[in-house]
Amino acid sequence: MRLRGRKNIRESLEQQSDLVVLEPQELKGKWNAFFENDNPIYIEIGMGKGQFISRQSFNNPNINFLGMDIYDELLRRGCEKARALWKSERDAEEVPNLALVRGNAENLQDMFEPGELERIYLNFSDPWPKSKHARRRLTHPRFLEKYKQALSEIGEIHFKTDSLSLFEYSLNSFSNTELQMRHISLDLHRHGLRDDLVLTEYETKFVGQGMPIYRLEAVIGDKVVAEHRRNVAGELAREMKRNGAVTLNAISDEEYEADHK
Ligand SMILES: C[S@@+](CC[C@H](N)C(=O)[O-])C[C@H]1O[C@@H](n2cnc3c(N)ncnc32)[C@H](O)[C@@H]1O
Repeated sequence: MRLRGRKNIRESLEQQSDLVVLEPQELKGKWNAFFENDNPIYIEIGMGKGQFISRQSFNNPNINFLGMDIYDELLRRGCEKARALWKSERDAEEVPNLALVRGNAENLQDMFEPGELERIYLNFSDPWPKSKHARRRLTHPRFLEKYKQALSEIGEIHFKTDSLSLFEYSLNSFSNTELQMRHISLDLHRHGLRDDLVLTEYETKFVGQGMPIYRLEAVIGDKVVAEHRRNVAGELAREMKRNGAVTLNAISDEEYEADHK
């Protein structure tokens, strides 16, 4: 592997200001101005080498993506990955809807105004298995509070991991913070690779080793929580109707009226 000095990495990042943000706190409240559009903003916290966020940005041109990590070297690799993808598949020199951000989840509130983000991806976050390190886990309640602040009224968190202990811990953490969870899976790819979901570097490796991937979504914003509850109530009402049960408080007002016209 070619080794590069820290100084060279920093210089390379400084020369890529179209794609790299080294001082994200300067863009607090101005991320849409940075992208020059009003599209929603999704962030992966702990993007690693950038496979997931590069592919997401390529697949979804109407969403702005941020890939955040604490290490310059990972940002440099992320740049290479994103540029290579856009060049090879679209012959594009620029990556319009992606920014790679040097930042720490600890400081999220310094980088984003309340409601500025629409989705947070936590992919294969470091599990920190020792309980004395629990507060470093990116699903610790103190981080969930920061995410809640930064997310909009339709905000969501999508969380994937190979670590059963981190998943178990996180279920409790989400639940204790009164977050509504959905699409919980204990083996995401059990019926073959989910090609509707983009795989990360770690995921590719673990799936190749036959390991199960745990996943959940947490809905946070008021609007998305209300929509989720309506969907669940509708499903329950349909199920009860299929079974011939008539339980008035289990069906929506609209369904009740339609039934009694
Ligand atoms: C195990 S790697 C997963 C990388 C990638 N998401 C994947 O699935 O392939 C975890 C990444 O999170 C980053 N990370 C750890 N703590 C972080 C924090 N507090 N803020 C931002 N990134 C963090 C690490 O530097 C590392 O790149």
